[in-house]
Amino acid sequence: MKSAYDGGGKRKRVRKEFYGQIEGVVRGSSFYATIQNLGLGGMCFEVHYPFRSGLDLSLMFKVFDSQQESTEVKAEVVWVQPLQMLFYRVGVIFTDLSPEAKRIIEAYISGLEIEADEKVTGAERYPLLFTPYRVSNLTFKNRLTMAPMFWGYANEDGSVSQTLIDCYREIALGGVAMIVVANAVVDRSSIMASRVLRVDKDRFIPGLAKLAKVIKTSGAVACLQINHAGRWAKVNKPLSPSPVTMQVPHELSKLDGIGMALSDSYHRRLVNSFVFALLRCRHSMTLEQMRYVQTCYGEAALRARKAGFDMVELHGATGYLLAQFLSPRLNTRSDGYGGSLENRMRFPLEVVETVREFAGKDFPMGYRFLADEWLAGGLHIREAKIFAKNLEELGIAYISVTAGSHESFFLPHVMNQARKEAYVAGLAAEMREVVSSTPVIATGRIVRPALAEEILRDNKADLIGLARVLFADPLWPNKVFEGREKDIHFCRCCNECVLCVIKDEPVMCSRWNKFKRANIDIQLKQKRRKWEKVLIAMDDSEGSLEAVEYAGHMIGREQRVTLFSVLDIEHGIEAAEKKREKLLAQAKGHLKRTGMNESDIQIKIARKKKGVAEDILEEVNKGEYGSIILGKGSASRTRQLLFSSSISNYIVQHARACGVWVID
Ligand SMILES: Cc1cc2nc3c(=O)[nH]c(=O)nc-3n(C[C@H](O)[C@H](O)[C@H](O)COP(=O)(O)O)c2cc1C
Ligand code: SF4
Repeated sequence: MKSAYDGGGKRKRVRKEFYGQIEGVVRGSSFYATIQNLGLGGMCFEVHYPFRSGLDLSLMFKVFDSQQESTEVKAEVVWVQPLQMLFYRVGVIFTDLSPEAKRIIEAYISGLEIEADEKVTGAERYPLLFTPYRVSNLTFKNRLTMAPMFWGYANEDGSVSQTLIDCYREIALGGVAMIVVANAVVDRSSIMASRVLRVDKDRFIPGLAKLAKVIKTSGAVACLQINHAGRWAKVNKPLSPSPVTMQVPHELSKLDGIGMALSDSYHRRLVNSFVFALLRCRHSMTLEQMRYVQTCYGEAALRARKAGFDMVELHGATGYLLAQFLSPRLNTRSDGYGGSLENRMRFPLEVVETVREFAGKDFPMGYRFLADEWLAGGLHIREAKIFAKNLEELGIAYISVTAGSHESFFLPHVMNQARKEAYVAGLAAEMREVVSSTPVIATGRIVRPALAEEILRDNKADLIGLARVLFADPLWPNKVFEGREKDIHFCRCCNECVLCVIKDEPVMCSRWNKFKRANIDIQLKQKRRKWEKVLIAMDDSEGSLEAVEYAGHMIGREQRVTLFSVLDIEHGIEAAEKKREKLLAQAKGHLKRTGMNESDIQIKIARKKKGVAEDILEEVNKGEYGSIILGKGSASRTRQLLFSSSISNYIVQHARACGVWVID
């Protein structure tokens, strides 16, 4: 095998940091990959396929933003680095570089230098991107919008959390014209994940009002996406137009491609969730249930308006309830809501009318639009166009075009297709032709500003939707505007964020630095902690009792306390246990005397497993305690108070997402 390095471990030819995309062919099947760096000797790219070293590839380059000029290069894989589940960084060297290919790659590299030298602003380079645009009665300051992205950052009760506010503020300050806050559920029967945002009760309005205000004062139009997940809801009896068997579990288990691209546990989780969704849908929604859900949509939109949002977006994509009604696969009803396209459109169109009725004609409403399910027997573009025309007639504010659903997203050919830049722009262009007086948003791997400008210039869409792009770098719009493209942290399409959704965990980005990740993690974990639970760690010293007494006066009466002690001895353990029980009982007496209820005080003694400090922390994490109280020893007074300073220091340093009180 060839090497890209000389004997001294240095690269034989210089490579440039680079963002771009290539289409490759390996053993007859094609793949899309994201370039990381490029030189005349070879390149590094990231991809969803686990290549092995020594493999021969054929790669197609496209020069800059030209659709025509491309060149083929032969290459050999020299190293593969697994990045995370599903995702690999691959180093290749070029094995056969024709003079033509060499010229084109040189053009890439020198093009980078030219771009870096030019002192033009983004506004000059991308005039359309930064032109204001009118949507209904709202003015967007530019053509860039944030497409909805579910993060699982709401509080556990579905209300707006500080984390959610902070993240949307950051994105709004980054220069985008409009933000669609993702996936607020219109009813309890729609909850499809942990920490999903809710808009189904008036009690959520104050939190939503804070969020809307932050987005607007940070310079963006605030839009709330409202949704009913239908059969994808994680509830006992999910609502569904018809009890139809989904195709995917069977297909998934058959497909070799999935086995290659996905790890076992990921695959299992995916299949399980499909099977789960499949098994639970045994009934068609009744007319009464349909009326109820329509009213939920109407009330949710009114709440959004009351909270100060500028507009709402109906979630008609991703295979959720509105899309389920439209799909010929999932809607097999024999009443006026199933069968012909006219009937299948009826429910979503009635939802649009209900929202109008509740929230008012002057309250703009966009539609997240499914142009193609990408499944045999599913909704396809021909019918989608007719539906779009109907939406336009009802005065929808915009159509935000998407493709694929939960059932097709993970099919290997769809996963590969979705790596391609602007993979939905073609469908958006088709919709653009049908709905001439309604703005169309194109979303889907529009990562480079030049590509976004090109989509607008070619009249494929009126607005650009960015989801992962802004998640990876909220400052993308401002960096482009200021001509600082080199500073952008480009989304690598690694889909770590998607994986988080599948695992039902708070969504993180692999491009964030560890501080941002840790910050979000801690904020959300803190919320999970039970703040009323306090653990007082005790040893066998008299000082322990004094500290407990002191703590008793500090703790609120609504809190619940566990007096916890780790036995740190090898011999005579039973006698020691008895002695410790006595001490803890005494401590309990102290707490009662400070006014605490007996039922709120627990005693727990554990034998040492790893170490005193480690065992205390393990107990705190297991019991999700909000605070730990312990005493601090000093070198001279070790064991006079609760613990030696090394133990208290260790706990202070290693405790996560809980408060630590050290009593001296
Ligand atoms: C983690 C994740 C969550 C998403 N959540 C939503 C959602 O709640 N509602 C929605 O309409 N689209 C959702 N999408 C789809 C995005 O809006 C967008 O269409 C898609 O990611 C392609 O655009 P991008 O390449 O800019 O990310 C989500 C996408 C991702 C990756
Ligand atoms: S947003 Fe981040 S985690 Fe998601 S695909 Fe892009 S780089 Fe990966």
